[in-house]
Amino acid sequence: MRKRILLVLAAGKGTRMKSPVQKVLHPLLGKPMLTRLVGSLSALGPDKVYVVVGHEAEAVSKVARSFGAETIFQEPQLGTAHALLTARKKLLEEGEADLLIVSGDVPMVPIEELSLFLSGFSGSGELASLVSVSLEDPFGYGRVLRDTGGGIKRVVEEKDATPAQKTTREVNSGIYAMKIPEVFPYLDRIDAGNQQGEYYLPDLFSLIYAEGKPVGCFKGSVPERYLGINSQLELAKAEDRLRVSILNRLLSEGVIIKMPDTVWVEPEAEIAPGVIIHPFVKICGRTRLSGGVEVMSFSTLIDTVVGYGTVVRENTLCEMTVVGNDCKIGPCAHTREGTVIGDRARIGNFVETKKAVLSDGVKANHLSYLGDVTVGAGTNIGAGTITCNYDGENKLPTVIGENVFIGSDTQLVAPVEVESGAYVAAGTTVTKKVPSGALAISRVRQENLEGWAEKRKKKKEQKQG
Ligand code: UD1
Ligand code: CA
Repeated sequence: MRKRILLVLAAGKGTRMKSPVQKVLHPLLGKPMLTRLVGSLSALGPDKVYVVVGHEAEAVSKVARSFGAETIFQEPQLGTAHALLTARKKLLEEGEADLLIVSGDVPMVPIEELSLFLSGFSGSGELASLVSVSLEDPFGYGRVLRDTGGGIKRVVEEKDATPAQKTTREVNSGIYAMKIPEVFPYLDRIDAGNQQGEYYLPDLFSLIYAEGKPVGCFKGSVPERYLGINSQLELAKAEDRLRVSILNRLLSEGVIIKMPDTVWVEPEAEIAPGVIIHPFVKICGRTRLSGGVEVMSFSTLIDTVVGYGTVVRENTLCEMTVVGNDCKIGPCAHTREGTVIGDRARIGNFVETKKAVLSDGVKANHLSYLGDVTVGAGTNIGAGTITCNYDGENKLPTVIGENVFIGSDTQLVAPVEVESGAYVAAGTTVTKKVPSGALAISRVRQENLEGWAEKRKKKKEQKQG
């Protein structure tokens, strides 16, 4: 098989997005559209991936490098053919190859179809081929014009098309396969004599055609997957199409989703059959939900693993958390990065955890902050318990043993340890180790002033009289 090289065009400004963020960096269900695109194209097994960058080059390059692509800097951006010519030097170093060119703004391309397109092209004598689709509304796209024999003759851009040409519904998807180095002499001959004064890559086809050499055209069968994203409306529509396709797959696999129109699940999530997802839930990143999990409304799970039978109640946010089996989390809990919760634990209302390792059966039911802490099995954390883990410079650890009872409104001033089986009285400020089996108490002894209220009343009356 010939070498396969992938070239993604992403140097354009994306003016129609009206956004300070470069077009291809806009997230599509949680990941930049460029990442989604290259992620799916990697299934084609390219030997090398290049991304042409220009506008916001640094930000785009950073993302491109994160998936191992090499970037090519195009400045100024004089059109799609100019983008390819900018990459010429690098591409020539690759020797003979099939080059797949994709615009960075078509992130939903169907890979199975592109695989057929590429293998068909490889075995053909064509110098270049493009993927076309037929659209109900072809406005804005380059139209594919064919000769009487049905062969592809040229592509004409919306702005250059005559009214008759505009009635053509077959459009250029912006996805091409080319044989390198053979196409470069033709690319050199593309000029910018058009309405936009740009070097158009699709002009390549008329140049090759004029010499009577073969060019190809592959008709895509799912037009909506080839739609370019040029505006926020198009992005929102594409994102919704992808979202619905994920929910439909999950429903077909036996996941129970109430009011799916309101549920957001990102493609990387893994959800077992029988999981129940209530309205207005967001499941993001590499979240994994085991069977029997129930996620109640307005909760968001990000990169979180949840064990069998656990219920995540309303308005809970879990980030980079691992939760065991048969737990109850929330309502209104916030578990942050590095939280690891054992089985049968209970994290209740307004409890925030961070880098907290909470063993089996731990209960923290109300109003607590547990940061940089390990808590042994069976320990009860009373309402309003706070780990004072930050001294203004460093984060400091708290260690709590097994079967400890921490009374309400306790402050644990880290670094500090409460050993297994110890008790801490309500309202205590723990500043030193509590040994196993001891009771720590640090509060001013209560004094009752008998008859105080009556005396106060009399005083007031005397003043008024
Ligand atoms: C392009 C095609 C059009 C096709 C459509 C499909 C041209 C001239 N037209 O139009 O036939 O129907 O895609 O979506 O190619 N880019 C660069 N450098 C440049 C200019 C553009 O890297 O100098 C990149 C852009 O960032 C973008 C891609 O090339 O990712 C396509 O450019 P865009 O301006 O979106 O082209 P369209 O007008 O959509
Ligand atoms: Ca486009």
